[in-house]
Amino acid sequence: MSTPLIRPDETDNLSNAPTGRAKISAARFTSKDHMDQEWEKIWPKTWLVAGVASDVAEPGDYFVFNIGLESILVSRTDEGELAAMYNVCQHRGARVLVNDIGTLDAFVCPYHGWTYDNGGKLIHAPETNRFSQGVPCEELSLKRVRVESLGAVIWVCMDDDVPPLSEFLGDIPEMIAPYRLDDMVLAVDQTVELDANWKAVIDNFGELYHVEHIHPQHAMIFDCPGSTVELMQGGHNRVLIEGFTVNSQLPIPDGPPEIQHLQMQSVGLNPEDYKGRTLDVRLDMQKAKREMGPKLGYNYDLLSDEQLSDIVQYNVFPNTIWAIQPEELWVMRSRPHESDPNKCYWDKFTFRMAPEDTAKELANVSFSATDREVKPDNDDRIEHEHFTQDEVISGKYSMTITVDQDVHLIRDIQAGMHSRGFDACWLNDDEGRVQHFHDWIDYYIAQ
Ligand code: FES
Ligand SMILES: [Fe+2]
Repeated sequence: MSTPLIRPDETDNLSNAPTGRAKISAARFTSKDHMDQEWEKIWPKTWLVAGVASDVAEPGDYFVFNIGLESILVSRTDEGELAAMYNVCQHRGARVLVNDIGTLDAFVCPYHGWTYDNGGKLIHAPETNRFSQGVPCEELSLKRVRVESLGAVIWVCMDDDVPPLSEFLGDIPEMIAPYRLDDMVLAVDQTVELDANWKAVIDNFGELYHVEHIHPQHAMIFDCPGSTVELMQGGHNRVLIEGFTVNSQLPIPDGPPEIQHLQMQSVGLNPEDYKGRTLDVRLDMQKAKREMGPKLGYNYDLLSDEQLSDIVQYNVFPNTIWAIQPEELWVMRSRPHESDPNKCYWDKFTFRMAPEDTAKELANVSFSATDREVKPDNDDRIEHEHFTQDEVISGKYSMTITVDQDVHLIRDIQAGMHSRGFDACWLNDDEGRVQHFHDWIDYYIAQ
């Protein structure tokens, strides 16, 4: 099976919005001017993943979402309402909160003590008698930002004219509904500082052409060359990749690779039985998971057989990636640096389906796609790990082998963008998602 050819210049029938193929020049990754245009035209005009829904589950819970020069405070009010507001005091403009995540009855500005309730309403200013013009609390509340919850994460939008999230995402909410992402639990929370433009990271997750070269381990478990790409309106896209199989362009190994043995055994399949039958594993895994899933505490009722074995990745414009399997979700997000187009923050939230109590222990062993133990039943909030690219390269931190391999390389891509010897990208047909993304970047900037 070969990759269906969806050429970027055929995407006009998906939408009448992008009219031409953007030239993916080096300058768009390095120029401050381009960064400034994105700041005006893209970041305030799109829905952005702000953080994890479970961090604002209870009244008083809050977290701070920083993107570029902006800081947004997301909270659950005493009345149980989800709220988002600019994290800037209406007195003299100080950041109200600097802590990432917590629970508070009220938000007190550290500068002069102006106090806001957890919905952002100003409820106290010290020594109001010194304000001869008064302190009108209603007018001086924190400025609200739009907020919605979907797919285990919270989304915010800084512009009132952007369509609601469900419309912004098109068909994606319906497509992901069978996975019950809202039932998944945060298991790992990481941020790496990268020496690369935020778009270079999205591009890296916008094609599978590089997989054979830097992720050789994938050839044993996925069929990336046989993936199916779908470009979507709004700059989104998705790719469906068959799992529990092998790279269709390489010789078929004599049996399932060791990396799959544990997962096969957990649903009652004996890898020894598949000697010479490697290509039977995928369908048999589907059947076995269908049968064994409920016993392991998983509810697969809404998922198709293909969804039980395969992986689907959604790239949500502009900067979010959802990589979804029935038992695990990665939400990855690329955030621009405050001032330097050559840097960005790459966040990876790993969620895992929390199996029913009786089967927790078994399931913890069975389907862990992460390379460390995580405990979704632990009530404590998972620690947010923040580290540098060098700390990944040195092995101090890992974001899974695959992401680490990308992290190793990304700095060198950014470095190349500064060369006099490079003008613009030359894409192949498998890189149509990259083109689509940049077409939409240009479309937003042209508004
Ligand atoms: S700036 Fe916040 S109280 Fe003065
Ligand atoms: Fe990669």
